[in-house]
Amino acid sequence: MLAEAEHLPTTAKNIGKLGDKYSPEYSRWAFGQWELRRKSVEKFPRGMSMQFTRAGLEMATHSRIAAYHASLFPVGAEVLDATCGIGSDLVALAARGPVIGVDLEREHLDCARFNLTVFGFAGKVARGDALEVLAKGWDYVYCDPGRRDDSQRVINPEDYLPPVWDVVDSIRGCKKAVIKLSPMLRDEFLQSLGGDIEFVSYGRECREALMIFPGGGQVAAVHIESGERALATPLPRNDEEPSGYLFEADPALIRAHALGIFGMAGVGDSNGYLTGDKWVESPWLRGYEVLWCGPWRIRMVKEALLEGNWRVDAVKKRGVQIEPTTVIRQVELGGGRPVQLVLYPVGQKVCAALVRRID
Ligand SMILES: C[S@@+](CC[C@H](N)C(=O)[O-])C[C@H]1O[C@@H](n2cnc3c(N)ncnc32)[C@H](O)[C@@H]1O
Repeated sequence: MLAEAEHLPTTAKNIGKLGDKYSPEYSRWAFGQWELRRKSVEKFPRGMSMQFTRAGLEMATHSRIAAYHASLFPVGAEVLDATCGIGSDLVALAARGPVIGVDLEREHLDCARFNLTVFGFAGKVARGDALEVLAKGWDYVYCDPGRRDDSQRVINPEDYLPPVWDVVDSIRGCKKAVIKLSPMLRDEFLQSLGGDIEFVSYGRECREALMIFPGGGQVAAVHIESGERALATPLPRNDEEPSGYLFEADPALIRAHALGIFGMAGVGDSNGYLTGDKWVESPWLRGYEVLWCGPWRIRMVKEALLEGNWRVDAVKKRGVQIEPTTVIRQVELGGGRPVQLVLYPVGQKVCAALVRRID
């Protein structure tokens, strides 16, 4: 049925035709699978062979990040994935050793079971409540709790299923347990759980806060593409104005309070722009040459643009409530070489810099 639906457009007519031949329910499922499979390839290189539920795909960990999660456990040791969903983390864990996947939803479990076989991995998959299964005592546990509203941007710890505190209480005796949470959760809450905290960067986004137990409260940022890790390090100082180069830090580096790892100064109260006289090459940074800086006054910026024969093609801002599209119109002059306008606060003031991206 999947094979027959693969190259047909998803129209009521086609769904009806296949439904008459087999069953309406399965026909809808088959067309739905192709839609989900096509969507899944941004997360899963082998997504076109996998099976999904809509919610399960949305909640599933990106395969590159799942591989990182799996690398936190010893090779060959059995790991319980207490909330396995459609099995993205489960598959990654199975690549390194035996796994047991548990979930409340039968449909997710069917997908997880199927997806293990797509990769040629064995693994036990069973329906159950994570907290009941965890109570049996395990050495190695991974848990990616669901969210009431299926959103990654969960800032209320009460919105997790199963509840985060219950999971943390039941993994106290583990040799190693990893719990995936939203990076939007407040520092105080994450710290109150105990354990180490890792903020994970992928595609230049801070994707998750990983709680790792047992741990002593260490906070770090992890860059998936490069494998780099940065420990929380405060900034040595903040300068009102940028010097030779301005750098935009990766969101996970900012979230992990690790902006100080380069020894560079922060720029104003931007909490994310760094500056120094030397060029620094790093996967954590996007760098710009500083062409001009001063207070944010439209007239002054326009004068600098005219003098340099530049035009603003993008506005970047941190910590200021200014609409970039409005600003671009305000400083429009016509021709010139493209530069970027950076806006950031220093106390009550807003400061500006004209910069040029260095690739
Ligand atoms: C965020 S998803 C897991 C995604 C999975 N890590 C992946 O990458 O595919 C969370 C899962 O937890 C399951 N869940 C919620 N409450 C549960 C509970 N009490 N016991 C077991 N599973 C639960 C949901 O059905 C959902 O499939």
